[in-house]
Amino acid sequence: MTESKKKVLITGGAGFIGSHVVRQFVTGYPNYEITNLDALTYAGNLENIRDVENAENYHFVKGDIKDAGFLLELFEKEKYDAVIHLAAESHVDRSITNPNEFIETNVMGTANLMNAFLAAHQDSFEGKLFYHVSTDEVYGSLGKEGLFTETTPYDPQSPYAASKASSDHLVRAYGNTYGMPFVISNCSNNYGSHQFPEKLIPLFIHNIKNKKELPVYGDGQYTRDWLYVVDHARAIDEIFHKAKLGQTYNIGGFNEWTNLDLIHVLCKIMDRKLDQEPGSSAQLIRFVKDRAGHDRRYAIDAGKLNRDLGWAPSVTFEEGLEKTVDWYLSNPDWLEHVTSGAYQDYYEKMYG
Ligand code: NAD
Ligand code: TYD
Repeated sequence: MTESKKKVLITGGAGFIGSHVVRQFVTGYPNYEITNLDALTYAGNLENIRDVENAENYHFVKGDIKDAGFLLELFEKEKYDAVIHLAAESHVDRSITNPNEFIETNVMGTANLMNAFLAAHQDSFEGKLFYHVSTDEVYGSLGKEGLFTETTPYDPQSPYAASKASSDHLVRAYGNTYGMPFVISNCSNNYGSHQFPEKLIPLFIHNIKNKKELPVYGDGQYTRDWLYVVDHARAIDEIFHKAKLGQTYNIGGFNEWTNLDLIHVLCKIMDRKLDQEPGSSAQLIRFVKDRAGHDRRYAIDAGKLNRDLGWAPSVTFEEGLEKTVDWYLSNPDWLEHVTSGAYQDYYEKMYG
């Protein structure tokens, strides 16, 4: 897509990654009109984008992608040129206890959004784009060797992964059947500021701060490939502007860690930041019952994105983790707000 004036709808912009994408586009492209559409579920929080909410090129619309009629009307009126679709239910553990919510939002919600996009542009798709943001979890689990590439067959293992895989298939099918102009990216595990403290890194920062146990699933030898969220937002920016239509890009940090090794690094940083005896945080580690169907290893080959578009991560894992810890420690109010109320019930059910 070119950088000329356009109307861009970002869905899920009040969530973790979406808020960084909103920031990237609102500050980077003053000539775009950016609308953030978000239902403000437990994971969506307008505090995440407080710094850009008064920008002239930014609007917020509260709305649910499960509501097909609402989307048709919105698109009919606004005729967005491009969509960057991030709104989703995103936590694997919640998908195990409540799969239907994931199917409704991630599968049906994506179909509703594409139907509205198609209806608004039935005369011509010239200069239009539907960008679908997805995950590496669609590829399933790797053994000790190998990396996910863009041609790895889909083999999703959790209800979350299966719902994202379904939405990816639907996007490609709409491209093939209706000529809908699209791109898809599949990214590895993100970390950084504004991530809801149900995911590993912010949960453990929050627990260490509050001297609560650190629940490590199974043997802790599960491997993930971690990427700093700002680098994901930069990659989305590159792909949005430079990718050929119909392409898929894998995004990853070239940065594999077993959960246990990562947790030990995090514990050391926390001991230093909190001025504690070395080893204090690690004493909170507890091995707990494993997650059902837990994928052993994810690792991304982001070579295509690097070769085609010149993207590479801008920070090392150590730098990113340091910045992340600093953000959580200097924003206690944010943590306080998101962990009050319903969070307590979730925590009790999950770990209590
Ligand atoms: P998140 O859970 O932090 O945020 C999701 C956002 O979507 C929230 O603001 C929520 O209010 C909104 N939302 C949920 N249901 C909605 C609905 N029905 N209608 C409108 N808005 C709704 O998620 P995240 O971690 O920021 O992930 C964003 C996207 O990136 C997701 O599509 C996810 O699959 C994908 N992704 C995430 C990761 C990761 O590590 N977190 C990695 C790769 C891809
Ligand atoms: P998570 O942040 O939920 O991301 P994903 O499941 O999408 O990879 O989990 C990252 C890893 O950490 C995963 O292997 C599960 C593990 N984990 C724990 O060991 N304990 C926890 O309390 C959580 C939330 C995750």
